[in-house]
Amino acid sequence: MQLTDQNTYTIQGIDPVQLTEQYGSPLYVYDGATIRRKAAELMHAFAGINMKIKYACKANTNLAVLRLMREIGVELDVVSPGEFEMGKLAGYEGNQITFTPSGVPFEEVRAAVEAGAIVNVDSIPLLEWFGQTYGNTKPCLIRIKPNVAAGGNAKIMTAHADSKFGISVLLLDQILEVVKKYSIRIIGLHQHTGSDIKDAEPFLKVADILFETAKHFPDLEIIDLGGGFKVSYLPGDAVTDMELLGNKISERFNTFCKEYGRDLQLWFEPGKFLVSESGHLFVTVTVVKEDPARNFVHVDSGLNHLIRPMMYGSYHHILNVSNPSGELKPYNVVGYICETDTFASDRQLPEVKQGDILAFANAGAYGLTMSSNYNTRFRPAEVLIDNGKARMVRRRETMEDLLKTQTDL
Ligand code: LLP
Repeated sequence: MQLTDQNTYTIQGIDPVQLTEQYGSPLYVYDGATIRRKAAELMHAFAGINMKIKYACKANTNLAVLRLMREIGVELDVVSPGEFEMGKLAGYEGNQITFTPSGVPFEEVRAAVEAGAIVNVDSIPLLEWFGQTYGNTKPCLIRIKPNVAAGGNAKIMTAHADSKFGISVLLLDQILEVVKKYSIRIIGLHQHTGSDIKDAEPFLKVADILFETAKHFPDLEIIDLGGGFKVSYLPGDAVTDMELLGNKISERFNTFCKEYGRDLQLWFEPGKFLVSESGHLFVTVTVVKEDPARNFVHVDSGLNHLIRPMMYGSYHHILNVSNPSGELKPYNVVGYICETDTFASDRQLPEVKQGDILAFANAGAYGLTMSSNYNTRFRPAEVLIDNGKARMVRRRETMEDLLKTQTDL
């Protein structure tokens, strides 16, 4: 979103305030150009490598976003039968979808395999089941837990020793035993370090662990390093330097392939990196409460629509779209939910008045997909702006939608 010379915000020449008038507030708006730019950036950083992007669609499953990904040559990583179905609806073939479960019922794995997906096996019991069920007739990848603590926020780290995800690298002997017992075709090793990881170092560290582990598996075709690249949350924020990461990992990957004796494919599964910056959540100020302790700005949204600030303490930049150049004042921006749903504390914003439209930045990832109907509130509509045109890609919910699953009407 840009500020114009006329001191108004615009996305591809479109006025977001008008969108909120047309589609209602609150409103999620995604900028397709940003998604295209981020994907191109990642592809460019690994240009010399046989690399595939598997978009972790838990970040944003809007079908229009998934179709855009497909159009630009990005494949899919899913974690549930529901996400798998979304992928199929968006036009993906089963074999373009990777299923990365986390302790799911094995029947979900069966359904994914039978629909052509490739699975990242995440536990010894699942590996046993996979071997018993498919022997050497279906390939799979193994999700390794490398026991590396990386990233700033403990709540979104996934590769440290205490993490529930994957099979510990310390259990390699046991893994090899099961693989041998059923002659399972292991075609790849996978790991996901966590989210919001800025530096190249943790990626290199876990890559080295996977490369070392790979020597025990002679039939590999894929090394999957997961997602987790850090994005910019406020102007000037430190982010993953994709060019640097690309150079460093490509170099090590090439050396590994030489040692391994074959050219493998390198996969990444970014969620945030591709969609976070593309999205804004536009909300309307319902009440400005001048309290002796704080100035509270209430908005017509809350943890039901964007839970990241409350769940992880995440910073989301806030813009006063209605008054970009007003005098800066400190505010606590809070929701309308009957919980302490604080979006921002003591935040300097251009003077806020009732009825103003505020925008939360970085709302393209883990925004609507983590939303709920708490307090019997409706989920907002979504708009995608692509090729200079805005269109609604999800309507706002109604009372009818909420009653659909109640059986005691
Ligand atoms: N691959 C796997 C196996 C994952 O579990 C995840 C995220 C990703 C890829 C994508 O990670 P990303 O590139 O988006 O960081 N809800 C949290 C983030 C936790 C996501 C869990 N897994 C947040 O809003 O910060």
